[in-house]
Amino acid sequence: MTQPIREFNAEAIEAMPARSRAAFINALSGFKSANLVGTADAQGRANLAIMSSAVHLGSHPPLLALIIRPGGDERHTLSNILATGTYSINHVTDTIVEAAHQTAARYERAVSEFQAVGLTPCWRDGFKAPLLAEGGISLGMVLREHQELAINGTHLVIGEIVLACVPEDSLLAEGAVDLRTAGTVALSGLDHYHTTTSFKRMAYAKPDQPPRVLAR
Ligand SMILES: Cc1cc2nc3c(=O)[nH]c(=O)nc-3n(C[C@H](O)[C@H](O)[C@H](O)COP(=O)(O)O)c2cc1C
Repeated sequence: MTQPIREFNAEAIEAMPARSRAAFINALSGFKSANLVGTADAQGRANLAIMSSAVHLGSHPPLLALIIRPGGDERHTLSNILATGTYSINHVTDTIVEAAHQTAARYERAVSEFQAVGLTPCWRDGFKAPLLAEGGISLGMVLREHQELAINGTHLVIGEIVLACVPEDSLLAEGAVDLRTAGTVALSGLDHYHTTTSFKRMAYAKPDQPPRVLAR
């Protein structure tokens, strides 16, 4: 039996109360990544913020993009990235979801979210931004491009992965990574955290061959 489908046109979306619209639209891009972005200001004060907007831009060079909300200097992550040119992207894992979510609270600039929520910064020689010491997948990033988008004032931040820390047990053959073994969670909307189950792995698609399921 197929479920009845409700349709929302542009007027219906516009008429939603702001919070409901934000929850609704945030769910529509599908399951997202949950990452903690680690930065430091020019004085070396650490900052950590949860972000769901990481997008793969390319593998060679290895680029990830983030979308950061408008808000000028009150956006500590953005101003720190622009000040130092470095940041870290750390997967949220199942054991730290509550602390990770709490980093979304608007702490004063002088407050380190690491300390406020009970997570641990890991400083590397020659790298100005803290990584997360809690042990999931952690990436050291160097800023390569920043654009304020004309359409809504959000900021596109493009960075190159210059360091990738991946738990040994999660490394599979031919470069594949088992995110479930690494403890990485998925996110929907702005508040639902999911553990994952992989149920199928597919071979590279070719026009002259049918879909082929791989042994995992
Ligand atoms: C699940 C979740 C995902 C979020 N994703 C983003 C995001 O992709 N971009 C963004 O700018 N803010 C995002 N936020 C909001 C930031 O975490 C929040 O504004 C935080 O206070 C920013 O901290 P900062 O001022 O230290 O940079 C998200 C919040 C939550 C709860």
